Amino acid sequence: MTTRADRRPIGVFDSGVGGLTVLSELRRRLPHEATVYLGDNGRAPYGPRAAEDVRAFTAECIAWLLAQDVKLLVVACNTATAQALPLVREQSDVPVVGVVRPGAVAAAAATRDGHVGVVATSGTVASGAYPAAITEANPAIVVSQQACPTLVPLVEAGVVDGPQAEREVRGYLEPMLAQDPRIDALLLGCTHYPLLRATIERVVGRSVAVVDSAFTTAIAVEDLLDALRARSDLTGSGAADNRIATTGDMAAFTAVAERVFGDRLPDVESVSVEAAVSSKA
Ligand code: DGL
Repeated sequence: MTTRADRRPIGVFDSGVGGLTVLSELRRRLPHEATVYLGDNGRAPYGPRAAEDVRAFTAECIAWLLAQDVKLLVVACNTATAQALPLVREQSDVPVVGVVRPGAVAAAAATRDGHVGVVATSGTVASGAYPAAITEANPAIVVSQQACPTLVPLVEAGVVDGPQAEREVRGYLEPMLAQDPRIDALLLGCTHYPLLRATIERVVGRSVAVVDSAFTTAIAVEDLLDALRARSDLTGSGAADNRIATTGDMAAFTAVAERVFGDRLPDVESVSVEAAVSSKA
């Protein structure tokens, strides 16, 4: 039997730095897969934007990633997944994995009592994508949502614990938990919220399971590569190539990413995505 292998990179798209939470899970799980990450920092945040802007910006970024000859696309941004996934699928000639379904399946599996809370950006909440995906996984589940518009700027400012972070998190979560005290699983439906996990867990207490989509998205990507027999055949101890590009300011991207993630990143490239769209048109 001949084994097929595909060394082309996996494309990972986010509105900015937050999708690095998904990228790092992917690289931990699939170290021999090359990756190209694009953050649309020049136009982030997507959370408060109109759905049509999110769709137009996402289409430009996806066109740029497709031009990098990727074998699979991961839409790591919850807002872009919630508002633009069907369009991304239409636009792409490679398989596309979004973060909403993997997160929804994780939340549906985590609840014992059938009551799930979702925290996300305003755009993701308005789309209704998470309640739809969670009830698709299990129609009996009751879903409550809460938009948390101040949490992305808070994380980007490096405030992930301490009194201010706790106050903000409490301000969003306590009313939701008071409204439905049976919530026993909380889904972090935004790329940035896993960075606040310790604070969130302290606020919700031990009876609420906190889940995010980074881990389950990486599993979905691995399963898909196996199903398509499209894994890279690179082996050995070194990790595969990892390109990181931004539509924004490189130094600003690196500063926020290092503040948020702690480690040093590979060199960050500055790119223009409008060029990718016009060259496709
Ligand atoms: N990446 C976005 C998300 O997961 C959060 C940041 C933004 O609003 O652009 O929804």
